[in-house]
Parts: sequence; C-alpha cells; structure tokens
Amino acid sequence: MNRYSRVIGTGGYLPEEILTNDQISETVDTSDSWIYERTGIKSRRIAGPNETASSMAEIAARQAIEAAQIDPEEIDLIVVATGTPDRVYPSTGCLLQQRLGIKQCMAFDVQAACSGSIFALSIADQYVKSGAAQKVLVIGTEICSRLVDWTDRTTCILFGDGAGAVLLGASEETGILSTHIHSDGEYEDLLYCPNPQAATEANKGESGFISMRGNEVFKVAVNTLGRIVDETLEANRLDKSDIDWLVPHQANIRIIAATAKKLKMSMEQVVVTLENQGNTSSASVLLAFNEAVRDGRIRRNQVVLLEAFGAGFTWGSVLLKY
Ligand code: UT7
Repeated sequence: MNRYSRVIGTGGYLPEEILTNDQISETVDTSDSWIYERTGIKSRRIAGPNETASSMAEIAARQAIEAAQIDPEEIDLIVVATGTPDRVYPSTGCLLQQRLGIKQCMAFDVQAACSGSIFALSIADQYVKSGAAQKVLVIGTEICSRLVDWTDRTTCILFGDGAGAVLLGASEETGILSTHIHSDGEYEDLLYCPNPQAATEANKGESGFISMRGNEVFKVAVNTLGRIVDETLEANRLDKSDIDWLVPHQANIRIIAATAKKLKMSMEQVVVTLENQGNTSSASVLLAFNEAVRDGRIRRNQVVLLEAFGAGFTWGSVLLKY
C-alpha cells in the first residue's frame, strides 16, 4: 500500500499596507516603468510595526486548518521556512505552536532562503511517507522589508512581506509525487544577508541588509531552474504536457517566463502573484499555491509543479497531484 502526503488545506496572509513603485521612486532613483519592465512588480505588502513572522504565520495556518477541517491538536509536525524569524531562538515553529495552542508536536524552522518552502515541503513529505507523521503544517513566512536597505535601489524594489501555509495529511491517494532539493554554498558572495550580531573582526561593521549581485543571480537562476524541471520530469517519467500548473517562486517575471517557456507552457498555466506582492522569499510559492487553489484555478487531481531558487544557492521542486 502506497503512502502519500496529500494537500488537505491551504492558507495565506498579506499585510494591509501597500507600497507602490511610485512611492519607492519618491525616495530612491528609480521609476515605476523601470521596475515593472525589469521585474514584473508594481507593488508589495509591508508588515505593520507589531507584526512578526509568527503572527503572520498564525493567520495563514488557521486558514489552512479551517480548510482541512481538522483540530490543531491533530498536527504532529510544524515546519516553518523563514529567513526573518521573530527570535534567533526559540524557532518560529515553536512560537507558532504556542500561538496555535498545540500542546504536543514537533516544531522547527528551515533556513533555505527563497527556496525555504520547497525544502520544508520536502522534509514534511519524508516524515509523512515514512509514517513518522500523519499531519504536517508547512509554512513560509517572511518580513523581508526589515532586511532591506531602503536606500539601495537594486534590492529595495524587489521584496515584500507575507505568509503561506499548506497542511499535508497521510493518504493512500496520490499526493506529492516527488521532491528534489539542492544546495551549492559556492555562491555566498552573490546573495547574502549578514547577521551583525555574529560578526567577526573580518566583517565587523557590516549592515544587516540584503546584498545581491542581481544580474549574476538572474543568470544562474534561469539555468538552474531549467535543469530542475528536467530532473523532476525524468524522475517521474512524465512529459512537459503532463503538467497542468506551474507555481514558481516569485522573484522576477522574466525568470518565471523562461521556466514556462522551457516547459512549453502558456503563461495562462502559470500562477503569478509578484505583480502585487513582490518577492516574499520563502512565502512566495505557498502564497501563490494558496491563491490558485482558493480561486479555483488549481483543481483536485491536477498535476502541479512548484519550484524555487534562492540564496546559498539553494533550489528545488515539488511535483504533486492536488
Ligand atoms: O529570490 C532570490 C533570487 N533572486 C533573484 O532571482 C533576483 C534575480 N535578479 C533580478 O531579478 C534582476 O537582476 C534585477 C531585477 C535585480 C535587476 O535587473 P537587471 O536587468 O539584471 O539589471 P542590472 O542589475 O543589470 O542593472 C542594469 C542597470 C544598471 O545601470 P548601468 O550600470 O547599466 O548604468 C543599474 O545600476 O539598471 C540600474 N538599476 C536601476 N535603475 C533604475 C539597478 N536598479 C535600478 C532601479 N531603478 N531600481
């Protein structure tokens, strides 16, 4: 008897405040047309002063729990992907567990930058398939706006805040077909965010802000995502035409379009949220998946490819039957 992880609920949360390209153009030397043409972004959401990764995660998680119609106590593992945890420790997973009032379950964080939710789904799937967990809550939650240098036009135009959630349940029915995750630590210099509190003499005085050589990251991202598509299809002996939906990490519309082209998919089959959300790092794939499930685009038994690329570099994919 096969045992799969099946999606039983999804959720999402975006903070209220909207920051438009025009507003950013008032403080740095850029324009709405430059940002939109180069990235596909028009606006992003910014978390309020009292919001945290765990407070946003709670809202997304409660939506997923409601959709799945389960008692939170049934959850036996929480995996939170975030690069902006409330605290260094306890993990955001533990803080979320406390917020949800769950007395007994495993909870921890995964740090894989923008690929975080793909890594978290992959870990969750191993727990479910092995029988170590029955119901797993997977979250991607980020307050990127607090890691952004708002005077740096090369990065501040890109990022936004939000949280996405998926609840997986063990099932005999087909769910996650395969997951593929990879890391290559050679590329630290192209995309990183220092932790000033952990600075040594060598990097004393570094800011705590995101630093990115965008154009170089762009090129590696396009090539790497092309390869992960091939790897995923080959592992499942599937053809490009077998995929109903692409749910990509939302970094840049040009990267997304290149992956869609590789899959010979029309943009109608691609879930794009970045126009009004920007890059929400580890939250982006789960936010996009939730949106397309809730508005009825992604339907039961359709085949969905989720993929992401981020700092590390890290990259990966999840192929699932919804
Ligand atoms: O999510 C994790 C992974 N991250 C990514 O995948 C991000 C990948 N990178 C990108 O999305 C793109 O590289 C960016 C959107 C960040 C930049 O677009 P680009 O087409 O690669 O531009 P560029 O970095 O090559 O810069 C072109 C020009 C430069 O001026 P010069 O040197 O040609 O005179 C920049 O200084 O555009 C200038 N520039 C800007 N101009 C107006 C850079 N940022 C801006 C800006 N407004 N905000």
